[in-house]
Amino acid sequence: MSTDVFVLFGSPRGNGYTARMLECFLSCRSGAGIEGGTSIFDAYKAAIKPCVHCGHCKKTRGCVYDDFVPIERGLESADILIVASPVYALGFPAPLKTVFDRTQQYFEAKFSLGIEKPVKKRKAALLFASYGSTDGSGVTMMEKQLELVFRVMNANLVQTAVSPNTDSGHFDSEAVRAEVERAALNVRRYLDALP
Ligand SMILES: Cc1cc2nc3c(=O)[nH]c(=O)nc-3n(C[C@H](O)[C@H](O)[C@H](O)COP(=O)(O)O)c2cc1C
Repeated sequence: MSTDVFVLFGSPRGNGYTARMLECFLSCRSGAGIEGGTSIFDAYKAAIKPCVHCGHCKKTRGCVYDDFVPIERGLESADILIVASPVYALGFPAPLKTVFDRTQQYFEAKFSLGIEKPVKKRKAALLFASYGSTDGSGVTMMEKQLELVFRVMNANLVQTAVSPNTDSGHFDSEAVRAEVERAALNVRRYLDALP
């Protein structure tokens, strides 16, 4: 059975700590029984427009801007959604926050237009977060934001894996690998238990 992965990538650094966490997952996924395609949406490269609260999605399905289409496709085809991001000012970097703000169109589809499931495909989600300090409160904020938007994205956050203390150049590859492998196994179990 193919298990497709869609990644919302939120670091401007293609070779940074967040990317290393993602690489870890991609290299261990088959060991966890996660075989299938991977599609990565790079929020910095895509630079989609921010929500301008124009009210379009409250009256009509979709958004006035068409740059969300690749995300929509990813969300509809994926079994696993990975949000991979550094912590910026105790939250998501602006380009990734923009992606989550744009899911307001799903909120309006559900609550103003009465569409029960604006995103049809159910997904298991993982958060991979790296941060410079030893204060994990930014990750807690990110989890709260994801809990909110996942309600209309048909996604459930199964596990978070972190790489803390990177300001000191610290990257505990063994600890990160163990945590990411555990996340991969748990997400597999979660999907297998779905009815
Ligand atoms: C604009 C900016 C804001 C940041 N804010 C925080 C923060 O609030 N808390 C924290 O622990 N680290 C913060 N950091 C550090 C990054 O989270 C850290 O360097 C991260 O590991 C970078 O990931 P990357 O290598 O994938 O880009 C910030 C870094 C930048 C550039």
